[in-house]
Amino acid sequence: MFGKYALSLGLTLAAAAVFGGCGGAASAASAPHAAGFTRTSAREAPQLGAAVNDVMLRTAGPRYVRTLLDHYRSITPEYEMEMSQLEPSRGRFTFAAADRIVAFANRHHMPVRGHTLVWDEMVPNWVLHGDWTRAQLENVLHTYITTVVSHYRGKVEEWDVVNEPLLQNGGMRQSVWERVIGPDYVELAFKWAHAADPSARLFLNEFGAEWNDPKERALFQLVSGLRARHVPIGGVGFQAHLLLDAHPPQAELTGVLRQFAGLGLRLEVTELDVRAGGSTSLARRMAEEASIYKTVAASCAAVRACARVTTWGITDAATWIGTANRPLPFDTHYRAKPAWYGLRAGLTPRG
Ligand code: XIL
Repeated sequence: MFGKYALSLGLTLAAAAVFGGCGGAASAASAPHAAGFTRTSAREAPQLGAAVNDVMLRTAGPRYVRTLLDHYRSITPEYEMEMSQLEPSRGRFTFAAADRIVAFANRHHMPVRGHTLVWDEMVPNWVLHGDWTRAQLENVLHTYITTVVSHYRGKVEEWDVVNEPLLQNGGMRQSVWERVIGPDYVELAFKWAHAADPSARLFLNEFGAEWNDPKERALFQLVSGLRARHVPIGGVGFQAHLLLDAHPPQAELTGVLRQFAGLGLRLEVTELDVRAGGSTSLARRMAEEASIYKTVAASCAAVRACARVTTWGITDAATWIGTANRPLPFDTHYRAKPAWYGLRAGLTPRG
């Protein structure tokens, strides 16, 4: 699964450029707690969010929780809302782990990003191995989306409705949904989610679209088409799983965000992390990582529609790409890394 992200980012290596130093010290967190946070001016910093998981919340201890509560303002459950977790067998919904995270977030007045309703990965076996007609699979997906979104109505403010629908060359990614229902599974999913919770903000979330390249252009076409057909999409998420040698220059990422802002949508960086393994000195890698964090945060801060930056985890102690890659803002002892200071400096708009 990780290969998908490494390969696609590797292909964009040619577009990557090294950016300046991180600089700047951490400034006090200024983003409001309010659910539905939207920047009213370009001077207001984007909100900072984190992906967390239920096991860490329950077992990692007070330093994990304190770091989360001290520095972050919103929460994405890392995997507890995947279909394979929520409906492991047909009609049997298992909400307990996701419910614990949502209860924690609601208790602390932190908005929740639901992740993710329709994806080619983490599809339960009963769906993958079913022999479905189009109508049958539509029914499965409709029931799933309606049940999950209704369960969290008023508790989850926004959903990644469709995750990673595109290939790097701009084509539609093959999935059971795309194969059996067809490409309009995307707009059906948005309509069903909207019907289940009309006040939830609905996102299309994609990786490797932070560059001006065929995938980014295909994403723009896809989202423009949804807007033109009045499909209830409210936002676009840019995952930003980046590498030390594959990351977008600030001008390019800012340009991409501006282009999507022109569609009148909310934008977010939804899964930021930086794979920072390598043979150069640790100090140098951490400085480069900090520079990338700053670049991504500053790009978001520069575009008013970009309302939030979420890091895909908090500490290098718990990350999907492995502790050795040191991808997150806090180290294994919960000490702020250069990446943290880069992130803070980038989020604070100038002027
Ligand atoms: C990762 C998570 O960290 C895992 O816990 C999960 O089970 C699968 O992979 N794009 C996404 C995330 O949208 O859901 C992925 O998360 C990382 C890539």
